[in-house]
Amino acid sequence: MLNEKMEEALNEQINKEMYSSYLYLAMSAYSSSVGLPGFAHWFRVQVDEENIHAMKLFDYVNSQGGKVKLKEIKEPPMEFGTAMEMFQQTLKHEQFITRSINELVELARAEKDEATASFLQWYVEEQVEEEENDNEVIAKLKGIDKNEYVVYSVDEELAKRISLR
Ligand SMILES: [Fe+2]
Ligand SMILES: [Fe+2]
Repeated sequence: MLNEKMEEALNEQINKEMYSSYLYLAMSAYSSSVGLPGFAHWFRVQVDEENIHAMKLFDYVNSQGGKVKLKEIKEPPMEFGTAMEMFQQTLKHEQFITRSINELVELARAEKDEATASFLQWYVEEQVEEEENDNEVIAKLKGIDKNEYVVYSVDEELAKRISLR
């Protein structure tokens, strides 16, 4: 059973995951527009992942007899600068999501909601992976200082990310 506070916080997280999806969809469009199809593909796969994150929360709230409340999704930016700047914004966003998940875990514990605290562990682990992925791309892009073609080799690599469908 979810108490009202927990239900509201989980609904807020659904919205944050939907915004993540929207943000990465905007990054995908931007990547296409600046001739980086590999980045565009990588972000499209990320959109699918974020939708899954939102749907897992959606299903959980329903399964606990809670009420899903869908809120307005904020409009994402359209311009993201260089590939490096775009990934730095991605990492910053994921760090924000990580803090948000940590706060949810703290709330679940404070409310003695063991089921939700346990459910949220999946997100704790997922966030470690998300930040790691972004840090890896940023590390690769750092080579650009020495060679501007690095962005294209990273683009080719990101094109290989396996689609979820
Ligand atoms: Fe997510
Ligand atoms: Fe994410």
